[in-house]
Order: sequence, then structure tokens, then C-alpha cells
Amino acid sequence: MAEIGELTQQPIDYSQQIPNNVDLANDRALQRALERWQPAFLNWWNETGPANTANLQVYLRTAVSVDRDGWANFGYVRMPEYRWGIFLTPRDENRKIHFGDHKEEPAWQDVPGEYRSQLRRIIVTQGDTEPASVEQQRLLGATCPSLYDLRNLFQVNVEEGRHLWAMVYLLHRYFGRDGREEAEALLQRRSGDANNPRILTAFNEKTSHWLAYYMFTFFTDRDGKFQLAALAESGFDPLARTTRFMLTEEAHHMFIGESGVARALQRTCEVMREQDLSEPAQVRGQGVIDLETLQRFVNFHYSVTLDLFGSEISSNAATYYTGGLKGRYGEANIRDDHRLAAESYAVPEVVNGNIVDRPVPALTALNAQLRDDYTREIQAGVDRWNRIPEQFGLPFRITLPHVGFHRKIGSFSGHHIAPDGRVMSKEDWERQSTTWLPSDGDHAFVGSLMGRVIEPGKFANWIAPPARGINNLPVEFEYVRFG
Ligand SMILES: [Fe+2]
Ligand SMILES: [Fe+2]
Repeated sequence: MAEIGELTQQPIDYSQQIPNNVDLANDRALQRALERWQPAFLNWWNETGPANTANLQVYLRTAVSVDRDGWANFGYVRMPEYRWGIFLTPRDENRKIHFGDHKEEPAWQDVPGEYRSQLRRIIVTQGDTEPASVEQQRLLGATCPSLYDLRNLFQVNVEEGRHLWAMVYLLHRYFGRDGREEAEALLQRRSGDANNPRILTAFNEKTSHWLAYYMFTFFTDRDGKFQLAALAESGFDPLARTTRFMLTEEAHHMFIGESGVARALQRTCEVMREQDLSEPAQVRGQGVIDLETLQRFVNFHYSVTLDLFGSEISSNAATYYTGGLKGRYGEANIRDDHRLAAESYAVPEVVNGNIVDRPVPALTALNAQLRDDYTREIQAGVDRWNRIPEQFGLPFRITLPHVGFHRKIGSFSGHHIAPDGRVMSKEDWERQSTTWLPSDGDHAFVGSLMGRVIEPGKFANWIAPPARGINNLPVEFEYVRFG
């Protein structure tokens, strides 16, 4: 697949109401449909997007084209005036489907009738996560560890809004009337709502403070990366091109999560070293987050995010693959026949009270494989975090719990697995779960640290400053202007 920016493309006409590189001006029906959807989107943003922020001027980047420099557009923006645009990676005329039953056929420029409902379901499920995360983060801006962090929160929020636009474009452009209805429904579901919740469980959880936010952007935005990467392989070319461009935005979201947790970890280690502390209560007494609490948040966010990969064994995943709708992570770089009819894949499950690996047909195990690819990348990030206590000479290391720990979906649901992989009774597991998962008390403690630090260059006591600012600006730059 071509790198972004290598191919020629439509220039963006910024005088348009909806900036785009899909030649919207020459598709009047689509343009009108999207212009009708736009006020509903803005209503949704005002109702459920970042609270009380309409007058803030935020130093944001806005995509104005899909080439490398298209991201270099930084400036102060009032968020309701952000230009949410439709950008697809430029088309490669020679692109072929490279896996499944349609391997070697030209990539589809339209939706094949036989895959219409499956593709719509894939797009709606992905699209639903985008507004959901904005809703989950709605109240975070009432507190902030710094202006730098506040700006990063809003950057993620507007880009998740743009990801919603990306999916809505596909629904309007390729799925007719039911696509338009799905696009409306995307603005009607609400994260955590009892009657009309978001589709996936992790997107109905609360993100009630900044530690949860950093964990979410590290763990859950990275699930987004892997799902988008699998869709970027799709034989349906517009979906592949849309998701490929979304991946460029996702990288920054994951950076915010990884560096946010790293900075909290660093501050805690600094205080522990300076004052020679080891007991969690003493550490908390200094107004920083104890390492044990950080570990419990890792356990929670990792386990709920693993559920997003779905059941390890899935006939849907097999159908999506053989149909050429959703590939594997890095499909082009995998050396096999890209049809998987004869391959097998080992999937862990509980048998007679023990966890064993069972080989199953690889086609049915694609969710498990994507999850394993994800876990490898997550582990690499955790290893980078662990250099921090190591540098401070502290013995503590963050560990990932076993994939079976605290699972609600797939082969481990209904089982009780300890973080170290022991299979336990329900009673034993529940008795110990408060040492493994964040308690209400942990949330209350972390919440108590969440002040509102808005003096440029100042940071909350519980978090270290970042190594550098945004867009080569100093850390003390005024990233958000009030009033
Ligand atoms: Fe997203
Ligand atoms: Fe994201």
C-alpha cells in the first residue's frame, strides 16, 4: 500500500462547508445529505462534547490535506468552529484485494451486494466508538493537570469527532437510505445510557479522571489502532483508504496515553526516591499516585479493552476474512497464502480447571490473533514504562495480567482467573479482586488529586511535565486561552 502523500490528490477547498478530498462539490446529493447531517452533529457536540468549552481558544492541529505537511496546520480554534473534514488516503488505481476468496481481484470501489449488510455492520460498530469516547471524556476538562494536557484532551476529542465524520461519509455515500439512518443513530446512542447505550461495553464505562483518561488512550485507543489497521486491509477500497488516514491521528492519541501514564509514574518514583518511601499510604500522603494503584488501573483498562476484540473463536471474523472485508494486522507483511484454509492457531482456554492452548482453524481464530498482536505492542509499552522505576532504583515493575483475567467476553467469561493466570473459585476471586482492580476508594483518591492547573508552564503535583511541548513550542506555551 502506498504511503500517505505519495500519490496525487484533490486539493482541499476550504471555502466549502465540509472540507474534503472526495470531490463533494460534484456530488450534490451527497453534499446536501451531509450538510443536513452537519447541524445534528453540532447539536450532538454541544450537548455531549467537552463541557463548557465553547469560548475557549485551543491550540489545535487541523488536517487540511492528506500529505505529510497536511498535518502542520496549528492554530487557535474555538472547538465548535473546528473544521471536521472528510479525508481519504489517495486512491491507488492498481490496488488489489490481497487476502481471502477474492485475492488478486481489483479492490472494490463500490459495496458488493453480497457483503452489504456485513460492511455496514463493521462501519457502524467502528463509527459508534468515536462519539462514544468523546462522551466518556465530556467532563474531564473541568479539571486538568496543565494547559498542555488540556489541549491534548481537546485534540483527541475533535479528532474522534472527525473519525465519526469519516464513518458517516461511508454510510451516506455507499449505503443509501439505511446508511443515512445509521448515521443518525450514531448521534442518538449515548455512552452509559441505560436505554440507548453505545454498542461496545468498554465505551459505556466512565472516564472519570485523568488517570483513567491516560489509561484509556494507551489501552483502548490502541485497540482502535488494531481494528483500523485490520480494516485498512479491506477489499472495499473506500473503507481501506478512510481507515488508513484515521491511523495517522490515532498515533497521537496513543502517545498521549503512554506519555501521560509515564509522567505519573515518573513523578511517583521521584517522590518515593527523594523521601525514601515505599508504603502506598505514605506515597499517597505526598499527593502522588502509589504504584499499586497504577497497577490496578492497568489491570482494569487492559482487561476491559481485551473484550473489544470479541470472542477468540468467531465465525463472523472468518466470514469477514474470507470475504475480503477485514484483514489481519499487517496482512501484507505476513508470509502465508493469505487464505488460511489449512492453517491453525493456538487459542488459550480453560479445560478442567487449567488453562491450555488449543489449536483451532486459523480462520476462526482471527480475533484471538489480532488480540495477540495488540498484546505484544502493549507489552512493549509497559516495558518502556518499567524503565522509569528501574532508573530510580526501585524494584517495582508494572505487569500485564493474564489475558483471562476479568473477562466478560470470549472463552474466559464465566471463569475466574487471577492476574498471574491461576484458575480460581468465584468466592476466592471476589475476595481478592479489590487488590487487583481499582476500588471506589482508589477512584476517590485519584479524583482528589485532580485540581485545575491552568497557569502556563505549571503542572499538578502528581504528574511530571512532558519532555517537550506541542509542535516544537515550549512546555510553558499558552496552549489554551480562556475568556
Ligand atoms: Fe478514533
Ligand atoms: Fe483515538
